[in-house]
Amino acid sequence: MCGIACLVGNKRAPEECYNALEKLEYRGYDSAGMALLTKEGIVIHKKQGRVENLKDFAFNSSSNIVISHTRWATHGEPNEINAHPHISQNKELALVHNGIIENYKELKEKLKEKGVNPVSQTDSEIALEIIAEEEGTVLQKVKNALKKLKGSYAFAIIDKKTKSIIGVRKNSPLYVAKTTKGIMLASDIICFNSLADEYHLVQENEIIQISKGKLKIFDENLKQVSISFTKMMDVGHIADKMGFEYFMEKEIREIPAVIKRIVSNYQDKKIIKEVVPFFNDIEKIVLIGCGTAYHACMYGAKLLSSVLNIDCNAYIASEYKYSKPIISEKTLGIFVSQSGETADTLGCINLFKEKGAKTLAVTNVLHSAIVNMCDGKLPVFAGAEIGVASTKAYVAQILVLYLLSKHLENPDYELIEELTLADKSKQVIKIDKEIVELIKASSKVFYIGRGYDSISSLEGALKLKEIAYISAEGYPAGELKHGTIALIEKGTPVIVFATEKKLFEKTMSACEEVCSRGAKVIVVCAKDTKIRDEFYKIELPSCENEELESILSIIPLQLLAFEVSKGLGYNPDKPRNLAKSVTVE
Ligand code: G6P
Repeated sequence: MCGIACLVGNKRAPEECYNALEKLEYRGYDSAGMALLTKEGIVIHKKQGRVENLKDFAFNSSSNIVISHTRWATHGEPNEINAHPHISQNKELALVHNGIIENYKELKEKLKEKGVNPVSQTDSEIALEIIAEEEGTVLQKVKNALKKLKGSYAFAIIDKKTKSIIGVRKNSPLYVAKTTKGIMLASDIICFNSLADEYHLVQENEIIQISKGKLKIFDENLKQVSISFTKMMDVGHIADKMGFEYFMEKEIREIPAVIKRIVSNYQDKKIIKEVVPFFNDIEKIVLIGCGTAYHACMYGAKLLSSVLNIDCNAYIASEYKYSKPIISEKTLGIFVSQSGETADTLGCINLFKEKGAKTLAVTNVLHSAIVNMCDGKLPVFAGAEIGVASTKAYVAQILVLYLLSKHLENPDYELIEELTLADKSKQVIKIDKEIVELIKASSKVFYIGRGYDSISSLEGALKLKEIAYISAEGYPAGELKHGTIALIEKGTPVIVFATEKKLFEKTMSACEEVCSRGAKVIVVCAKDTKIRDEFYKIELPSCENEELESILSIIPLQLLAFEVSKGLGYNPDKPRNLAKSVTVE
C-alpha cells in the first residue's frame, strides 16, 4: 500500500508533489512525508497522520528534486520516526518505499554487526542502508543491493551526488511521465491526470534515473534502453466530491449512472463476445478476489454455476495462493479487483500463468497490473472510486458478472428488465432514520440471508465493520441456529435479506427464531412483500428477475453503514487501519 509521488521539475516541486500525494491518499494515510534536495543537502519533513499535515511545509519550501510518500504502516507503528522518507546515515540518499522487504530482520542484523544502527522500526530503512553500503555509482549500488532484497518494492531514491531520483520496482506499481510540471514518478497514473499525454509503467528489470530535464532507463546490466510510452487514459475527476461532504456518499449516489453506463456498454455484446472463447473447453472456473471483491466472486461463482454445468468456486486470494491449488489448462481463473493492484490477487494470477491456464480480469482500473497480466478483461465502468469502502464498484462488479452469465446462458438474451435497473436503483438510495439510530446504538449487528442474499449479508456486514467499527457478522440464515444464534440478545439488530422468493418462507422462519429471542428484525425485501408489523422494512422495487432485486438490495445497506459512520462522528472515507489499495501480501 503506500503512495509514492516524486518530481524533478522547477522550484515548486514540493507543492506539485503535495498535490499528487493528496490523490494517492487512498493507498494509506498513517503518515506522510517528503524529502527535498537543497543546497544544504537532503531535507526531510514528515508527519504522523494525513497528507494535509505537509501542506504548509510543501507550499513554503522550494526544491527542484522531491520524493514524497503517504504510508499505510506494515513494519513499525504509524509514528513520525517510521514515516517515510528515510535518510541514509551518510546523508547521501533518501528513500520512499511501497511494499515489504521480507528478509529485513536478517539484513538488519548484518547491518548492526557493521555498526549501522537503524533509527526506525521499518523494513524500508534497512533496504536504504543496504543500498547505501554498496560500492560504485548510485545505479551500481541499487543494482547490487536489489539482489540481496526479498519481497516486494517500489522504491524512489534521491541521490545527492548525481542530483537525481532513482526508481525501481518489483510487484508494486510505479509509473513515470514527462508532465507539464517536470518528470514525475508515481504509484498511480492519477497523479499525471491533465499533466501528461503519456506514461511508462516501470518494468521489473528496469532502473529509472531522472535528473533535470532527463529521463533515462537502464536494463539489469545498466545498459541504457529506449522508453515505450502508453497514451494516458481518462481516469476521471478523482478529486471532485461534486458538492458532497464525503466521496462515499457521492459514490453511492452515482450508482444509477454506473448501472446505466454498464448496461449501455454491455448491450452491444462486443465486450462479452471477446471473452466468450475463454469459456470454451474448460472444466472449472475459479473466481478470486479480496474483501468486497471476494464477495463479488462468490456472487459470480453462484451465477456462473447456475448457467454452466461446471464447477465454479470463489476463493479469497491470500488463502488460495498457499493452498496447493489444482490448476490445469482447462481451468479458467477470473480475478475480480476494483483497483487491479491487490497483491494477493496478482500473486494468484501468476499461479494460473505458470500452469498455462486462461485468466480473465474483472476490474475498474484499466491501466492496472491485473489487466496487464490477464489474457482478457471485463471492465466494470464504475469510474474512480475513492472511498475506502467499496460501494459503486461492488454493484458494478456483480452486475457485470450477471450480464456475463446471462450471455453465456443464452447468447441471444436481450436486455429488457436490465434497462430499468438504473431507475429502480434511484429508489433504494434512502434509509430510514429510525434504522440508522437503532444501529448507531448497537454494539453488534447480524446480517442474514439465503442464496444470493447470504452473500449480500457478508457484504452488508463488512461495510458496517469497515467504516462504523461496529461488530457485524454476515451469516447464511439457515446456519444461524448452529451456533451464532447464541449471540442474539434482547434488542440485537438482525438485518434479513429476503429477495430469493423460493427461499422466502425459510428466511422468514429465521426471522421468527431471532425475534423470539428478542432481536430487532429489519427485513430487506420487495415493497409488496408482507412481513410482520413489528419488523422494520427496507423496501426494494419489485423485479421479475430476482437476481436484479438482489443486486439492488445491497445499496440501502451501503447507505446505512455510511450514515451510521457519519452519525458516530467518523470519517467514512478514511476508516482507521484500512487502505483502498492493498499492494502488500
Ligand atoms: C481493500 C479495500 C476493500 C477492497 C479490497 C480489495 O481491503 O479496503 O474495499 O474490497 O481491498 O481490493 P480490490 O482493489 O482488489 O478490489
